[in-house]
Amino acid sequence: MKIRKPTREILPKVSAMLSSAFPKSRYEAKLVEQFHGNDTPIHEWVCIHINKVIAYIAFSNAYNGNEICGLHLAPLAVAPKFQRQGFGSELLNFALRQESIKKSPLFVLGNPEFYSKFGFELCTTPICPFDKENRHFLAIRNTTTTRFIVGYEDEFGPS
Ligand SMILES: CC(C)(COP(=O)(O)OP(=O)(O)OC[C@H]1O[C@@H](n2cnc3c(N)ncnc32)[C@H](O)[C@@H]1OP(=O)(O)O)[C@@H](O)C(=O)NCCC(=O)NCCS
Repeated sequence: MKIRKPTREILPKVSAMLSSAFPKSRYEAKLVEQFHGNDTPIHEWVCIHINKVIAYIAFSNAYNGNEICGLHLAPLAVAPKFQRQGFGSELLNFALRQESIKKSPLFVLGNPEFYSKFGFELCTTPICPFDKENRHFLAIRNTTTTRFIVGYEDEFGPS
């Protein structure tokens, strides 16, 4: 298994993997397709295993008004056949060690049980526009003290 940045040629495989990992919606696949189509600045990595994309992770800017205040982790996904075998944890741990990620405040809307293993903590501020009570909104290195609704890239859609 290798972790690397995706090349243009494997992007269709990334989309297919995201659709299979989130079978009920095309939201995540579309999100990543639009990031690439719009040249939105993101940090992303894939896990490749015998020529297959088996996992994917991306980070995009988080905003306080017009200012970047950290990175949103989304999406993280593992192909169904490869779930619960440690690949998601390995890819996330790899990403958290990278220069572009390791000093930035990070935010994620996800399962607290899963993300707390990696140092993410539930936060009360900033407020996630997709989860207004912040029940599943976690952060690392979050130094925010004022209350504001955190901004996402436009590709995430209306909040
Ligand atoms: C969530 C996900 C990224 C985790 O990756 P993974 O490779 O399957 O997870 P790991 O094997 O590294 O598991 C680490 C821990 O996560 C938890 N976990 C993983 N999948 C889980 C699931 N489906 N339900 C509940 N807990 C889960 C477990 O506690 C596991 O620890 P354990 O093996 O000691 O029980 C992956 O299962 C996935 O893509 N799921 C579908 C898409 C999704 O829901 N993504 C959410 C993030 S946006």
